[in-house]
Amino acid sequence: MSSIYTLREVTQSYAQREVLNVAELDIQYGEILALVGPSGAGKSTLLRLLNFLEFPHTGDLTFDGKRVHVGLPLRQRRRVTMVFQAPALLKRSVMANLQYGLTLRGIVPTQEALLDQLAEVGLQDLAHQPARKLSAGESQRLALARALIIKPDVLLLDEPTANLDPYNVGLIEDILRRDNVARQTTMVLVTHNVFQAQRIAHRTGLLVNGQLIEAAETSVFFEAPAKQQTKDFVSGKLVF
Ligand SMILES: Nc1ncnc2c1ncn2[C@@H]1O[C@H](COP(=O)(O)OP(=O)(O)O)[C@@H](O)[C@H]1O
Ligand SMILES: [Mg+2]
Repeated sequence: MSSIYTLREVTQSYAQREVLNVAELDIQYGEILALVGPSGAGKSTLLRLLNFLEFPHTGDLTFDGKRVHVGLPLRQRRRVTMVFQAPALLKRSVMANLQYGLTLRGIVPTQEALLDQLAEVGLQDLAHQPARKLSAGESQRLALARALIIKPDVLLLDEPTANLDPYNVGLIEDILRRDNVARQTTMVLVTHNVFQAQRIAHRTGLLVNGQLIEAAETSVFFEAPAKQQTKDFVSGKLVF
C-alpha cells in the first residue's frame, strides 16, 4: 500500500454550493505534495477534509487504507496535524507552548526532548521567553515545532510562510525538508509561492474552482505540464 490518502469523486459543499470536486487524487506515504491555485479554489477545504475536521459531502476518502468517516478513532485523527498561516499561541513561555500538545495527548516529555525540538527550529535560546513576544517568523517556527514534536504521520500546512521574510521562509523550508527525510512525514503544503513548491515539493497539484486540474512530479508540473490550465498558471496567465 503506497497511498496514505486516496480520494475518488470527493466533493464538499457549503449551503448547497459545491466548492470542491476532486475526481481522483492519491497522496503517497512520505511525499511532500504542494497544492497551488487561485484564492477560493478549495485548497483549505481539501486540507480540512484531510485533517478530518470535515467529511466529504459525497465520494470516497480513505486514510491508511480505511474509509474516513465521522466516527474515526481519535488515535487515527491524531496521526495528522495542521499548521496554519498565523499560529495561535498560548500566553505562556515558548517551552509551555511546545509542551501543550503533548500534554493533551497524555505524554510527559523530558526537558531534553523539548530543548532538542526547539534546537531543531532554532529557538533553543528563547525557551523561557513569553511566546507572544516572538517575531512572526519565530512564532511560526514554534508552531512547526509544536506540530513536529508529536511525530505526526501527516503534516498539513496552509500557507505556512505567507507574510514571512525570506530568511524565515528558508529556515522553515529546511525544517520541513529535514523532517521529511528523517521521519518520512507525509506533507501537504498549500502555498501561493510557486518557487516554494519547486524548492521542496516532490509533486505539485493545481486546484481551480474546486477541481484538481493536474497533479504531477514537480519538475513535470512546472516544465512540461499536461493541461492547458496548468500551463497558464505556471506562466502567470491564469487570472486570479
Ligand atoms: N465554512 C464555509 N462556509 C461557506 N463557504 C465556505 C466555507 N469555507 C469555505 N467556503 C467557500 O468555499 C470556497 C473555497 O474556499 P477555500 O477552501 O478556503 O479556498 P482556498 O483555500 O483555495 O482559498 C470559497 O468560495 C469559500 O468562500
Ligand atoms: Mg485557503
